[in-house]
Amino acid sequence: MRFASFITAAALTGAAFTATTAMAEESGQALYMDACASCHGTAAMGDGPMAAFMSVNVPSLQDLSQNNDGVFPMLEVIHIIDGRTGVRGHGSEMPVWGRQFKGEMLDAAGIYGSEIYARGKVLSLAYYLETIQSE
Ligand code: HEC
Repeated sequence: MRFASFITAAALTGAAFTATTAMAEESGQALYMDACASCHGTAAMGDGPMAAFMSVNVPSLQDLSQNNDGVFPMLEVIHIIDGRTGVRGHGSEMPVWGRQFKGEMLDAAGIYGSEIYARGKVLSLAYYLETIQSE
C-alpha cells in the first residue's frame, strides 16, 4: 500500500518534470504567436485579425505597465491569462487559458503535472509580455 503510493508519487513527479522541461523549451514569444496574436496582434497592439469580429475592444498588451504607474502588473497579468481565478471578472471574450493549457497535458501528466505545465505556460507568456512593454 505504502509502496504503491510511493510509485504513484514518483510517476507523477516524473511526468511533471517532463512536462516542465518540454514547456521551458517553448519560448513565451512562440506561445504568444500561437495563442494570442490572432486577437491581440503580432506586435500586441490589439489589432489581430480576430479583433474585428469581437464584440468588445481587444486591448493592446504593450501598455500594461503604462496603465499601472509604470510597473508591470505581473500577478494580475498571470491571473488574467490563466483566467480561472476570476480576477477582474474577465468577460467571456477572453479565453480561459489555464483550463486550455491544463487540458493539453491532462492525459500525459495527470492532474498535478498538467497544472505545473499550465502554470509554466502562463508564466512564460507573462514574462514575454513584460519584455514588450512600451516603457
Ligand atoms: C479570442 C480573442 C483573444 C485571444 C485569442 C486572447 N485574448 Fe487577451 N483579451 C481579449 C479581449 C477581448 C480582452 C479584453 C477583455 C475584457 O476587458 O474583458 C483581452 C484582455 C487581455 C489582457 C488584459 C489587458 C488589459 O489591458 O487589461 C491580457 C493581459 C491578455 N488579454 C492577454 C492575452 C494572452 C497572453 C493571450 C494568449 C495566451 C490572449 N490574451 C489571447 C481577447 C483575446
